[in-house]
Amino acid sequence: MTLVQSRTVISGLLFVVIILSGLWLSNSGRPINVIVLTVHKLIAVGMLVLFALTLHQMNQAGGLNTAEFIGGGITVLFFIGTIITGGLLSTENSMPRVVLMLHQIGPILTVLSTAATLYLLLNHKP
Ligand code: HEM
Repeated sequence: MTLVQSRTVISGLLFVVIILSGLWLSNSGRPINVIVLTVHKLIAVGMLVLFALTLHQMNQAGGLNTAEFIGGGITVLFFIGTIITGGLLSTENSMPRVVLMLHQIGPILTVLSTAATLYLLLNHKP
């Protein structure tokens, strides 16, 4: 299995854990279950690190083309936005409904953008 193939499998599995734990958090209400929240956020941050590392390694190996570079950059921004809205929802304070809406749209955009970028990297021609 190539580097990108194994990262794609790992990312798919970790996204399932993040989304299931997120739905758990939403359905179980307040006070937030600290263990589930910790799993949810640590995996999210870990995935961002893994994704950025994959981009870096592919860039070192042969250089990213423009589409891969732009796709990677957009994905990193979606990850950061989702992590910020998740961080706001994790505080004791009640947040405006728009923050939850952004944390529902953000994951969809992050998953789609990650999948599209990994697809480009899987078909990377040096
Ligand atoms: C790639 C990153 C992330 C993804 C894909 C993600 C995904 C999700 C999903 C799908 C939900 C359920 C939303 C719903 O339908 O109601 C959710 C809820 C939640 N997430 Fe995340 N999340 C991410 C990062 C984070 C981070 C970093 C934190 C905390 C620092 C966080 C905190 C929360 C909280 C507190 C909820 C429950 C919101 C509520 O109903 O009050 N998330 N997340």
